[in-house]
Amino acid sequence: MMRRSGPYEMVARMASGNAVVVFSVSGCCMCHVVKHLLLGLGVGPTVYELDQLGKGGREIQAVLSHLLSAASPSPSTSISAAAVPAVFIGGQLLGGVEKVMSCHINGSLVPLLKQAGALWL
Ligand SMILES: *[C@@H]1O[C@H](CO)[C@@H](O)[C@H](O)[C@H]1NC(C)=O
Repeated sequence: MMRRSGPYEMVARMASGNAVVVFSVSGCCMCHVVKHLLLGLGVGPTVYELDQLGKGGREIQAVLSHLLSAASPSPSTSISAAAVPAVFIGGQLLGGVEKVMSCHINGSLVPLLKQAGALWL
């Protein structure tokens, strides 16, 4: 099903499969932080552990790394090159852990989640 098209297409399709989708790697500390933040807010995200997806997982990480560095306002590619965690809300890339945390702190995360249908309360 995911073989026919390229890795960008594959990421887009996976990312729009649920209101909230988290791309993670098992054992990644910041991924754990993001998943627990979302769970704590009452969101049930779809989580993809990319290290468990073999070759496809590595292709997806390359795509995410590119998308995240393009989305990051800072030109410091050395830190923004991390591919995970990558959080998608409503099929749109929100960002990595820093973006999620700053949205959480300034109160914009919950409205985003509600808008995407991930939270009802
Ligand atoms: C909250 O912070 C995020 C990330 O820096 C920013 O994109 C967003 O516009 C901010 N929202 C508000 C309401 O300040």
